[in-house]
Amino acid sequence: MRRPLIAGNWKMHKSVAEASAYLEGLIAEDLPTSVDVVCCPTFVSLPAAAMVVTGSDIGLGAQNVHWETSGAFTAELAAPMLIEIGVHWVIVGHSERRTFFGETDETALDRARAGQAAGLEVIYCIGETLAERDAGETFAVLERQTASLGALDPEHLVLAYEPVWAIGTGRNATPAQAQEAHAFLRVRVASIFDGTAADAMRILYGGSLKPANADELLPLADVDGGLIGGASLDVGSFSAIIRAAAVCAAGDVS
Ligand code: 13P
Repeated sequence: MRRPLIAGNWKMHKSVAEASAYLEGLIAEDLPTSVDVVCCPTFVSLPAAAMVVTGSDIGLGAQNVHWETSGAFTAELAAPMLIEIGVHWVIVGHSERRTFFGETDETALDRARAGQAAGLEVIYCIGETLAERDAGETFAVLERQTASLGALDPEHLVLAYEPVWAIGTGRNATPAQAQEAHAFLRVRVASIFDGTAADAMRILYGGSLKPANADELLPLADVDGGLIGGASLDVGSFSAIIRAAAVCAAGDVS
């Protein structure tokens, strides 16, 4: 059985002080232990955030990582630097990186590989645009975006299916659309790696996942948690999603 993972992608939100206060609040929530929880603040908040979450069950993630361990790469950060300050996770290939900062399947893979080499758990984002969905290209896009994942270690890899048309738009995939894409990805993982990897790999849904729709998206057979943007910025709504995931996990057991 796959352990649910709820990860918050804070994007370019929260000051250092706000990040620390938020994390203190999240720890005080006494969250269920059946769910893995990860928060991904901005780079500048990571050192302070690391001090707050040390000793708690909350994992800390970065929103990007460079593919080299050092060098002349202005404004980039290397995986060992993240490890040094207590970061254990990294988001790679987010659609906002692809759309606004020229991220490609190739650079995303390189970043993921460097992250894993340093010991980071990688949350690898994929998903189609509205134009691609409307053109019936969803599966072709997912196939292309996952084509080189065989170069990664499946044991330290989480996929995040984030339909671009649902990110920050208030729209979300219907349960049928989400399950269809996730099931496709699980078969894809089996063909890239093997059945064991497919059974074990967590595939998160991302795209306007919030307390109001968590109850319909998180119980889906191939949805193993969420990568949450806007709704992760508030302790109350993020905690509600974590609790919804715990209810699903409990339901799986019985
Ligand atoms: P929203 O939850 O704000 O739609 O963002 C999703 C996302 O991009 C998470 O990485």
